[in-house]
Amino acid sequence: MCGIVGYIGKRDAAPILLDGLKRLEYRGYDSAGIATLSKKKFHIKKDKGKIADIDRKLDFARMPGNVGVGHTRWATHGAPSKINAHPHADCHGKLVVVHNGIIENYAKLKKFLKQKGYRFISNTDTEVIPNLISYFMRRGKNLEKSVRSAVEKLKGSFALAIISADEPDTLIAVRKESPLIVGVGKGEMFLASDIPAVLKHTNRIIVLENGEMAIIKPSGAVIKKTKSGGVVRKRSTKVTWTAEMAEKGGFAHFTLKEIHQQPEVIKNTLRVPRAELEKLAKFLLGAERVYLVACGTSYHAALVGKYALAKLANLSVEAVISSEFQESCRANGKTAVLGISQSGETADTLKALRIAKESGARTACLTNVVESSITRESDVVCYTHAGPEVSVVATKTFVAQVTYLLLLSVYLAERRGMSKSKICKLIARLNEVPDAARAVLARVEPHIRKLAKKYSNSQHIYLIGRGIGYPIVLEAALKLKEITYIHSEGMPAGELKHGTLALIERDTPVIAVVPPGASQVRMVGNIEEVKARGATVIAIADESDDVKEHVDEFIPVPSTEELFSPLTYIIPAQLLAYYMTVERGQDPDRPRSLAKSVTVE
Ligand code: AGP
Repeated sequence: MCGIVGYIGKRDAAPILLDGLKRLEYRGYDSAGIATLSKKKFHIKKDKGKIADIDRKLDFARMPGNVGVGHTRWATHGAPSKINAHPHADCHGKLVVVHNGIIENYAKLKKFLKQKGYRFISNTDTEVIPNLISYFMRRGKNLEKSVRSAVEKLKGSFALAIISADEPDTLIAVRKESPLIVGVGKGEMFLASDIPAVLKHTNRIIVLENGEMAIIKPSGAVIKKTKSGGVVRKRSTKVTWTAEMAEKGGFAHFTLKEIHQQPEVIKNTLRVPRAELEKLAKFLLGAERVYLVACGTSYHAALVGKYALAKLANLSVEAVISSEFQESCRANGKTAVLGISQSGETADTLKALRIAKESGARTACLTNVVESSITRESDVVCYTHAGPEVSVVATKTFVAQVTYLLLLSVYLAERRGMSKSKICKLIARLNEVPDAARAVLARVEPHIRKLAKKYSNSQHIYLIGRGIGYPIVLEAALKLKEITYIHSEGMPAGELKHGTLALIERDTPVIAVVPPGASQVRMVGNIEEVKARGATVIAIADESDDVKEHVDEFIPVPSTEELFSPLTYIIPAQLLAYYMTVERGQDPDRPRSLAKSVTVE
């Protein structure tokens, strides 16, 4: 969940590494550091805090050297501090390592190395790595062989970047589970945990796979199997993302930019070719049991998929939180498991797919990142085309996943005999959604800013919805808690009376999400229920309905098909979370304790 960057070439490494780190800050931001190598001497600067603040203090860009590595940390072992920040050197000062992941057997290795006279200064698991490599180098092995011997001894999941004062023209990268990509330049090479960090310099990338290492020189990279040392012939892939796509583009934060990109993202996703939908349709229809597995926001998209597949295509699927899959589900040769993951690197979802595969099930994935790990766990691979999402909180990738699943549901409905006229009507209504989303953005923002001012000091917020409104309130509550840090709870409106109603008192804010449809009347009943206890009710509802008369604040959304409402109804909630966060003086792009890709279980 940390971010790694590396550079080797003719230019000064430090400014390139610093820029890369800033672009990877969404992966971890409790500390950061850079090491460069010049005239066989290491220069290391690191500290706890945000990259911009550390840079102001330490001035990274002035570090000399044409080779270097950088790191932005999300602490696992050892509190955020200068000493625990990466890069870490061996105790002889000959090697430097940056690391993403966890070394499970670090305590045992540390004990062994201490007995051999190695000294440690940090509380991290990482520090054993440079020392272990040094241990093998001091026994006469070269850098590459020493790295391989060390990796052989490491248990856990990790990505590493290593430089050595003894072999200054080499940068070594190792991948075991945690992602790493090599960027291919002209006479220079780049390394990063994620594609946006290198886009400014190149769009040609090589994705390292599990168990592979890259021996990188300015002229190119040789990819090898870490265990055997056998060469793996690999061509670079050209990615279609551009550097501008990963910039803020005039918005104050990535979160706001990405919320505003949603109409375009929905439009792009509606262009998914029928051949791809057919692939997924075959995958789902050929199974006796179907699971959609995902975490966080992707799980909420999966829930929308569950409702839509049932209602439109009469297909029963189970949406399961990935980390619960092992405990609560059984798979066999007649099971199909679709993993949904923006990053394609979420450890819990990868594990669920692996378990499913081992049980004989077929697997598929829907991800936003080309060649991410999930694609290797899946028999069928499908992509959302939302572009790079930089903010830690998912917004545009949620609507991309939902659009994809809605389109798939309509396609399956057609496959399963829904009349042509009904299909045409559904497609026409889906095609109206990008404009409806645009209209929401244009109309509600000023009102939401006022509401954000009014409610930003709330202690608790409750969100209620029925039917398709339920996944919407779950996602809205997640957005609110992730960035505002206000306790927010989303639930089916019908569940209120079974317990949570006891917490509703005078002035408690309750957000009611009321999409069109039969459940509206019952939602009005639930609104009255909370109002009778003194709640202040904010409704997100169809512009043409009469919910307005029952609530304190009304946020109108253009009429749409009930099942398509997550695409437009989520927007006011995302904006409310964003503006409340700004109002509270917090950073919406970098919420505390969270990371964009959760690569640990
Ligand atoms: C969303 O705002 C969160 N940051 C988080 O819940 C996220 O959706 C979850 O970790 C799953 O990530 P994935 O889609 O990359 O698998």
